[in-house]
Amino acid sequence: MGLTRPAGLPVRGRTALVTGASSGIGAATAAELGSRGCRVVLVGRDERRLAEVAGRTGGQPLPADLTDPAGLDRVAAAAREADLLVHSAGIGWAGDLDSMPAERIAALAAVNLTAPMLLTRAALPQLRRRRGHVAFVASIAVVGVAGEEVYSATKAGLRAFAAGLRHQDGIGVTTVFPGAVRTPFFAGRRYDRRFPRMVGPREVAEALVRGVERGDAEVFVPRWLIAPARLQGALPGTFHRLARRFG
Ligand SMILES: NC(=O)c1ccc[n+]([C@@H]2O[C@H](COP(=O)([O-])OP(=O)(O)OC[C@H]3O[C@@H](n4cnc5c(N)ncnc54)[C@H](OP(=O)(O)O)[C@@H]3O)[C@@H](O)[C@H]2O)c1
Repeated sequence: MGLTRPAGLPVRGRTALVTGASSGIGAATAAELGSRGCRVVLVGRDERRLAEVAGRTGGQPLPADLTDPAGLDRVAAAAREADLLVHSAGIGWAGDLDSMPAERIAALAAVNLTAPMLLTRAALPQLRRRRGHVAFVASIAVVGVAGEEVYSATKAGLRAFAAGLRHQDGIGVTTVFPGAVRTPFFAGRRYDRRFPRMVGPREVAEALVRGVERGDAEVFVPRWLIAPARLQGALPGTFHRLARRFG
């Protein structure tokens, strides 16, 4: 039996819930969805920035902290009304693992991994009934980045969760792996790698929505990043040596 490609979700006339919608990739995704006739619920903590994105996109703001159980409950209730979940909220940390505070490890796990899993679980029955779709914003850091071990682990966890979710009948799943993206995520940090080149959040948002509409399992931005990801999976030793030499 050949592999069947799960159907994508045309977003026009649908309802999407986007976390991380107050900034960066989430805000750009909300704008892209709105421009294609999708209603959008915008989740974030910063009420001023959420209101600004709502004004621009016609979306409905839902202020909530995804590390707070009460906030998660409010977002889960809205997720049950949605045809599409976009999990873009995320935080990073770069530096020496020895000095990474335990609270920061817990916060990365809570925002980047636990919240998307809990929200997806909460919406499962409705997603199945509506033949809905879930999109995850992971990262090329799934290959394992030096100085970003915890961040890499949360994103690799997201990738594995998404791959498991694809076995659920009736639900489409798309995972997006951006390289470096020009957003406040890098605020206060220098980006001095030669590659991958930095892309704008809109480029990621367009690729994400295209992936959802086509039913693509994994989307890399820029596209060539699929090569290091595949190499790391197939030949981790070789990848490690190359990353130390050229990374
Ligand atoms: N920028 C990059 O180079 C890059 C590369 C690969 C992957 N990514 C991933 O892309 C996603 C979006 O990042 P971005 O670049 O767009 O960064 P960003 O501009 O800093 O946006 C991060 C978003 O996450 C939200 N967020 C953080 N903590 C939260 C919490 N506790 N509760 C609710 N919302 C919270 C923020 O909301 P508030 O500001 O309102 O708190 C904000 O909307 C992240 O998952 C990140 O890991 C980014």
